[in-house]
Amino acid sequence: MFLETGSGRIAFETHGDKKEKSVLFIHGFPFNKSMWDEQAGLLSGDHFVVTFDMRGHGESDAGRGQYLVEFYADDVIAIMDHLGLEKTCVCGLSMGGYTAMRAIDREPHRFSGLILCDTKSSPDTNEAKLNRANQIKTILAGNKSLFADGQIKALFAPRSIENKIPAVERIRTIIESTSDAALIGTLIALSARMDMTETLPRISAPTLIIVGKQDRITTLTDAGEMHAAIKGSRMAVVHEAGHLSNLENSEEFNAALLKFLSANNL
Ligand code: MLT
Repeated sequence: MFLETGSGRIAFETHGDKKEKSVLFIHGFPFNKSMWDEQAGLLSGDHFVVTFDMRGHGESDAGRGQYLVEFYADDVIAIMDHLGLEKTCVCGLSMGGYTAMRAIDREPHRFSGLILCDTKSSPDTNEAKLNRANQIKTILAGNKSLFADGQIKALFAPRSIENKIPAVERIRTIIESTSDAALIGTLIALSARMDMTETLPRISAPTLIIVGKQDRITTLTDAGEMHAAIKGSRMAVVHEAGHLSNLENSEEFNAALLKFLSANNL
């Protein structure tokens, strides 16, 4: 299904019938809504589940390739409005977490729960900005597969790469099929994102923070800082997982997700 917005079509999927309880999942960079397939299947029996492709990813239009996290938050709210979802629990991984933090700060009354996976509230350091500049140069030079190699090394725990879990090849295919304009536009948007740290104490929705123990992009320390700043939040560390904790160790990830949803009647 597609939602027509002023800046192009956003592809989204719903799973299960419309029910009181719902979860809206937001994927990380540079993936697409399929990264949540397992969780959508798991929850769709007693939840209405929504997944969507961020601008330029999956089946959503790339538009002019100019994005901001602010626009991604606009898209979340637009999808909720379109589906008549007054309130939902939102779960975002990494870039999806940046977006969820922005959306809940803008419209706190629209979110019944918050799940922040492998993400952080702090903005890019200068080193991270330079790293993104180098990634953009690599893509502009026509070396997208080199960019994909670097991403895979950074995203997955070494054990996941060694064990060649299917997710590794799936992620490579997704990266290589994403347009250069969308990759570059997203890297610039991520580099320009706001520091959300000061907003964390304002969050009153039940919150779960999930982090892969070997996440090198958004670390255990980043997760611990958000946990300390969000009143009453819970934190779950997923073992044998890097940045893509829901794909690398779905068993532990799903257990933490289910426990949180049921404990908070979400
Ligand atoms: C992601 O998974 O969304 C990215 O790693 C986020 C980032 O590069 O900051």
